[in-house]
Amino acid sequence: MSMPNNEAIALCGSADLTNGGLAVPFDVVFGGQTCRAFAIRYQGQVHGYLNRCAHVAMEMDFQPNRFFDISGDWLICATHGALYQPQIGQCRSGPCRGGLIKITLSEGDGVVHWHTAHNLQPLEF
Ligand code: FES
Repeated sequence: MSMPNNEAIALCGSADLTNGGLAVPFDVVFGGQTCRAFAIRYQGQVHGYLNRCAHVAMEMDFQPNRFFDISGDWLICATHGALYQPQIGQCRSGPCRGGLIKITLSEGDGVVHWHTAHNLQPLEF
């Protein structure tokens, strides 16, 4: 493997993520499979997750890039209504067990990056 274990990959501009607003989608290779992922901002901080519900492994957004519920305080799965904490992805209610798979994000100089890990890689080779 020549891929560095933790590489920072530019994802979007800071202004593209607003508190409780639409997510920015991106694609990753997680455990060898191509998966959709998303970044959101909540209470000023950026957070990233695989777009894969912890109930059934399906994408969660019922409208493109819309993950927050009407309160703006929970991430909701459109299929059966599971709610997740935006900060850590932990399941709060609904049929989910455990939580979302978190992707490390960082932010600086007006740019948001996501970070690769041993089981999380970019699509490009
Ligand atoms: S698939 Fe998400 S709550 Fe069932």
